[in-house]
Amino acid sequence: MYQELQPLFDETSIQGKVKELADRISRDYAGTEIVIICVLKAAALFSADLARLLGIPSRIVFVSASSYGNSAVSTGEVVIKNDIEVDISGKHVLIVDTIADSGRTLAVLADHYGKRGPKTLKTAVLLNKQARRTVDVRLDYVGFEVPDLFIVGYGLDYAETYRNLPYLAVIKTG
Ligand code: IMP
Ligand code: MG
Repeated sequence: MYQELQPLFDETSIQGKVKELADRISRDYAGTEIVIICVLKAAALFSADLARLLGIPSRIVFVSASSYGNSAVSTGEVVIKNDIEVDISGKHVLIVDTIADSGRTLAVLADHYGKRGPKTLKTAVLLNKQARRTVDVRLDYVGFEVPDLFIVGYGLDYAETYRNLPYLAVIKTG
């Protein structure tokens, strides 16, 4: 354990929650197929774990989204890079991110993909930092509610470090 980290959710709790979400999603979409849009980089780990627990046919595609900068505080501008190449019109689409903070990333992506004629468009996040929400965005699947603290691990970084941790922790960013 890194000294500057305070454990928040261990690997077992995370995997239990991911299974719970996967079961709900599989039930809700039973008999259909979905396209999972994984929001890189943070959601690489969460969407991989989620996807392998789904009991429905799923495609996984990737988009890079970043709130500009490398600090603990987002500047607010969402930049989309390496957009998906599959046609999502008439498809059930699920946008997967690890955390909803201000809500801007998911709001921008929901708007972006909503214009391409999906049959349905939903969002899934492992963590919801409701206290920080500044933009109205619908979260269809939420794992844990979390306090307004900076969280790392399980895909989440601080200056690109800690993404590989299998657990979630709070970091003192000074
Ligand atoms: P948004 O403010 O909801 O658009 O969140 C933007 C992005 O900031 C998320 O997708 C994460 O990559 C990142 N982010 C937000 N809160 C945290 C955090 O507590 N730790 C690490 N990254 C975060
Ligand atoms: Mg980041």
